[in-house]
Amino acid sequence: MSINHDEILKKVNPIYFSAKGCLGLLAETGDVDIKNFYGGIDKERLISFDMSDPVTESRVISLEARYHMWNAIAKDTDCQTIVDLPCGYLPHSLIAARLNKNYYGFDLPIVTEEIAPVAAKYLSDAEKNFVQYHGIDATNYESMRNALKDVRGKICIITDGFLGYFKFHDLKAVCANVHRLLREFGGCWYTSDSQFTDLMALTYVVLTGGDRDYIWNLNDSGRNKIAHTDSSNGALFMEGTLEERRRFLKECGFSVKSFRYPEKLNFIPSLKDKPDLMEKMLAAYQEMEEWLITADDTDAENFQGNLDAEKPFAQEFSLTDNVLSIRLRGRLDTITAPKLLEKYEEQSGFTEIHVDATELSYISYAGLHTFEIMQESLKDANLFKISNANDEVKKILKENGYKIMRNA
Ligand SMILES: C[S@@+](CC[C@H](N)C(=O)[O-])C[C@H]1O[C@@H](n2cnc3c(N)ncnc32)[C@H](O)[C@@H]1O
Repeated sequence: MSINHDEILKKVNPIYFSAKGCLGLLAETGDVDIKNFYGGIDKERLISFDMSDPVTESRVISLEARYHMWNAIAKDTDCQTIVDLPCGYLPHSLIAARLNKNYYGFDLPIVTEEIAPVAAKYLSDAEKNFVQYHGIDATNYESMRNALKDVRGKICIITDGFLGYFKFHDLKAVCANVHRLLREFGGCWYTSDSQFTDLMALTYVVLTGGDRDYIWNLNDSGRNKIAHTDSSNGALFMEGTLEERRRFLKECGFSVKSFRYPEKLNFIPSLKDKPDLMEKMLAAYQEMEEWLITADDTDAENFQGNLDAEKPFAQEFSLTDNVLSIRLRGRLDTITAPKLLEKYEEQSGFTEIHVDATELSYISYAGLHTFEIMQESLKDANLFKISNANDEVKKILKENGYKIMRNA
């Protein structure tokens, strides 16, 4: 059976789809760049949005506020290089290139492969020199470092709509990687994720006079359905308090300064015909914090076990007496997990799977999700067995409900 590579990437990383939803919603604002980008992507399962629903309207306005916050930061930063982590499908590349700043759009390969040619259609030849897209995995340091190999001078990383998707171990890895990049290049990290859902909930309150918790509950179930993420289990930037998030970043060796939305955002274009509402909204946004984060001199090694060059990913498959044995080496993350699933889908004639994780150095959300797909494909899920993981991998697997055997 021939297996489509794109389908494999999508299966392993259903989270990419959340970014299509963001672009689709933002297209409702009528912004020309956004509409052009939206016109260029495959709409897949995207449904049309009902703008008369105040929940949708709150989502659109809060996304719009964050979009323009991103643009304002790009304009104000004194860094010549901007890293959009993750870029999704938004036209930030156009904004940065028009400012004559170098733009690095970082996202999963499934996203960058689709959006890079769309951006190229709307960039002038001169602007194209400023723009690069790279398929990376933020939990994988080497993937981001390689993408930045030609960069000289400090970088400004801007993150919007990201940290809330990660459970603790991946979040720690992402933060360790950003910390290491900032220590190498200098510069800073901005994020709107400090108050991602709060912003939408507050927008809903201003629009309707309703209850913030209504949005919190709705967002949790919706996100799980669309992007197959379980944000209800240890996702600090979804579940935790603002203070817990701030403390976590401090423990990761960062200094966090906050400023309020209206300091950089004084206009919400889709509310231009409703000046009273815009004024009320911006006044309410005075409550919302955007974070400017810098790396202290702490050793990044303190908060991620292994930042040294890791063994490259490798996999060995063998079949004996209905048992499919898979030996894995290196990192199983969003870059490598599709290779595992691709090879797995070529196999047949087994009822049991034994994964030897002796040389597995890290497993991210995408690796866990791939294990889940493999396990679910068996008639008896108990016959999916993992043996011999190192302490870090063992901890992650145990937290996600797997038992680790010795020498399966
Ligand atoms: C909610 S979207 C936000 C995208 C964009 N910033 C926006 O506002 O539309 C989340 C993005 O995170 C990306 N993503 C998820 N896991 C990732 C990882 N490990 N490394 C890099 N990008 C990742 C997804 O592909 C998706 O594009």
